Amino acid sequence: MASVDVQVKQGRIESEADEVLVLHHYEGEAGLHDEAATVDRALEGLLRDLLKSGEFEGKNGQTVLLHTHGKIPAKRVLLVGLGKKKDAKLDTVRQAMGTVAKRVRQAGARSFTTPLHGRAIADTTGLLLAQAMVEGAILSGYHFNAYRSDLGKDSKDLTRIRIIAAGASEAAQIREGARRGLAGAEATMFVRDLCNHPSNVMTPSRIAAEAKRIGKERGVTVKVLEQRAVEKLGMGAFLGVARGSHEPPKFIILEYRGAAGRASGNGRGSKPIVLVGKTITFDTGGISLKPAENMEQMKADMTGGAEVLATIRAISRLKLPLHVIGLLPATENMPGGRAIKPGDILMTLSGKTVEVQNTDAEGRLILADGLAYATRLKPKAIIDIATLTGACAVALGQFAIGLLGNDESLKRRVQQAGLTAGERAWEMPLWEEYFEQLKSDVADMRNIGGRGGGMITAALFLSKFVGNYPWVHLDIASTDWSERERAYIPKGPTGIGTRLLLQYLLNEAER
Ligand code: BES
Ligand code: MN
Ligand code: ZN
Repeated sequence: MASVDVQVKQGRIESEADEVLVLHHYEGEAGLHDEAATVDRALEGLLRDLLKSGEFEGKNGQTVLLHTHGKIPAKRVLLVGLGKKKDAKLDTVRQAMGTVAKRVRQAGARSFTTPLHGRAIADTTGLLLAQAMVEGAILSGYHFNAYRSDLGKDSKDLTRIRIIAAGASEAAQIREGARRGLAGAEATMFVRDLCNHPSNVMTPSRIAAEAKRIGKERGVTVKVLEQRAVEKLGMGAFLGVARGSHEPPKFIILEYRGAAGRASGNGRGSKPIVLVGKTITFDTGGISLKPAENMEQMKADMTGGAEVLATIRAISRLKLPLHVIGLLPATENMPGGRAIKPGDILMTLSGKTVEVQNTDAEGRLILADGLAYATRLKPKAIIDIATLTGACAVALGQFAIGLLGNDESLKRRVQQAGLTAGERAWEMPLWEEYFEQLKSDVADMRNIGGRGGGMITAALFLSKFVGNYPWVHLDIASTDWSERERAYIPKGPTGIGTRLLLQYLLNEAER
């Protein structure tokens, strides 16, 4: 995908020359806002006429494109609705810019100029608005054509976005926001690519190779533990899942050490923040085989791992003053002659034993060992991210990530990051009472919790492997894959969770 040049400058929007000038309007407002009003005067009231006639009401996502016939240097004006002012949020702006970028490309244009949108929205800043604008505009142009020989060279990609700041301090905010927005969009698209590649390409070995490439980034070191080393360590749960597959498993460790931070306890010498990503490159269910319908979507069962990779790459490129370690237990879940079977008992890295009652509950098995490994790093926080349970999809549907954890402060900070990123997480209870459902007659626990509370029992299972360290679990099953195209989210792999992790770390770097 061609990269987009984001320019920031101060100036008068009505005198900017470009293919398209983008202005917004809130539904139900009598007048046009600052920049739109200025441009409207230069256009001798053309925009007001559209409002008066009712052709354009400013409904959320509504657009109208008009030619300027030389009245201003820009060839066209695109008006976009942000809906009612009181309902507008940061993500409204992100979505609007996704819609705008699509409309611009439809018109055959490849660049646009815009002021900052959404200054009237509560609880936001110029920095966050610019970040959201850039994310929305770039993410909406995502496509995956790696295996399409039937398409010509797609040249409709955006090449440039120019944001016009109202003053010097706004310009500085927009510059930093744009930098972060580009990083977030780039990270998300990297995840979408990894998830779109089929499992015959995106094997554990390929994921390890991707990690090694990230090891070339500034401040990042990568270590890949091969099967032998993993056996020596005693990761019996992870290896149990890998047994059914001919693809060699990889336990991937990425460490990022940024510069020492302003805030003490942030930078290279400090205790790490550990991110653990479920990396099942294909989930057949194993011997507890999944039904055929939609099974192809299980190529994206490595989304959590991909998001950890992308996040580490992004924080290195942003040079955040943090110490972060990423862990990816990577394997397929296959039914093979040597595969684990229901009733098998596995010895985990932590020393706890698990009776496998369903081989399709494999995510928690590989994460059990990943989390136990995380505790050996004496972390200040552990966050795991996983396409873990169908129960998450049932409980929360497409629009919320499941969030569970053992530490109030960490939970709130992760949730706040999700809100800012437009990748919202919703908390579920992690009450010990549910452990009853995980009791086994023959081992310390079993890997399924029976009917009811499936997202909770999965998380409670994980909680037994994090010791007393502050920990949050994010269940991205169903948010990781979209059934339909949305403003800046394509059909298929979404990469949702990536910008949440990045925003969390951006916030930590400033804490
Ligand atoms: N990877 C799946 C969960 C999943 C389902 C992700 C649908 C995305 C979309 C996971 O490994 C799984 O199979 N979970 C089982 C657990 C059950 C056997 C306790 C599930 O949720 O059905
Ligand atoms: Mn499974
Ligand atoms: Zn799975």
